[in-house]
Amino acid sequence: MGGRKTYPGFDIGPVRADVPLFLAPMEDVTNLAFRLIAKRIANPGVMFTEFVSAMAIHHRAHKTLKKMRVMDQERPLGVQIFGGEPHTMAETARVAEELGADILDVNMGCWVPKVCRTGSGAALLKDPELAETIVAGVVRAVKIPVTVKVRAGWDWSLFAAPDLARRFQDVGARMVTLHARFAKQGFEGEADWKLIQEMRKAVTVPLVGNGDVRTPEDARRMIDETGCDGVMVGRAAISNPWQLAKIRAGLTGDPEPMGPTLEQRIDTATEHAKSMIAFEEGLDERQQVTTLSPKERQEAELRGIRALRGQLPLYIKGYAGAAEVRGQLSRVASVQELQDILAEFQKRTEEQTPPEVQSVR
Ligand SMILES: Cc1cc2nc3c(=O)[nH]c(=O)nc-3n(C[C@H](O)[C@H](O)[C@H](O)COP(=O)(O)O)c2cc1C
Repeated sequence: MGGRKTYPGFDIGPVRADVPLFLAPMEDVTNLAFRLIAKRIANPGVMFTEFVSAMAIHHRAHKTLKKMRVMDQERPLGVQIFGGEPHTMAETARVAEELGADILDVNMGCWVPKVCRTGSGAALLKDPELAETIVAGVVRAVKIPVTVKVRAGWDWSLFAAPDLARRFQDVGARMVTLHARFAKQGFEGEADWKLIQEMRKAVTVPLVGNGDVRTPEDARRMIDETGCDGVMVGRAAISNPWQLAKIRAGLTGDPEPMGPTLEQRIDTATEHAKSMIAFEEGLDERQQVTTLSPKERQEAELRGIRALRGQLPLYIKGYAGAAEVRGQLSRVASVQELQDILAEFQKRTEEQTPPEVQSVR
């Protein structure tokens, strides 16, 4: 594409992000099943797991340990951990490294009360000394690069992130991501990208900007306006890895990929469900599921598909009639049922709308 500006990847210590595009850590979203799909379709520079509780790992909770499962085809992968206690954070970082993480990311952005009450997540923005101690301890505990994801501060009274980021850099953090909102905001209002621009002055390690990047244009504009090295995308990628692929192309200068077609969306939703179930069945750990009883398989199917219910409607969002099947999708209990609902939806949609005028966004 003649002369279009491209945006280079960069190194995070020994790990190369080929493209300056990061899939955000998202609880219940960026699990192994989704990451494998996102990798294949969008191939971002680095993807992050959903956050993993250090306290749960300390108690060897099996379900939480599974969240740190890494497969070779999804590398480079960052495992994100949260906690407010230096020893368990260091211990959990070591477990993540042993399980194959390429990057260890420390969460200092989660604002939900359940997390902050324990002194974890964004609560650390209020305690720079402890935050620094945690990052320093994690850096000492592992050989893989350590990164930190922060919000701007606890509330508007203090833009705490620049001071914190400088501290983290000084104790060995290799990259900082700023979600350009204050913790008190939750997801309200728009992300204030000026905060990212300010933050740029605080650190020399790679800085990743985050908040409200939805399109290739947004991604380029965030880098151009703020001077950050890369962008992290969250919500725009949920059930929509194709959008992530478009954003990738916007940064590499490659032609924007076409589609997806409704058929691709439906196939991917089904694949996503099957993969969720396979991991629920423990396929990733055992390579085969013949040891499960029929009842266990049925339970795993329900657990896997239930965990995906909220995301399924997003696969077909924007199509006429999608809202009507949302209710059905929110109750779906098996792959067969999912396939039936989506097949019926596809049939109706194709009857109504010639494919060339289907518009989705
Ligand atoms: C469903 C959901 C789950 C999230 N879980 C996490 C998490 O586990 N760790 C984290 O650091 N941020 C989490 N976030 C925040 C995102 O990583 C990101 O910072 C935020 O969504 C802003 O980016 P966006 O505007 O591109 O969505 C979550 C966001 C959403 C929507």
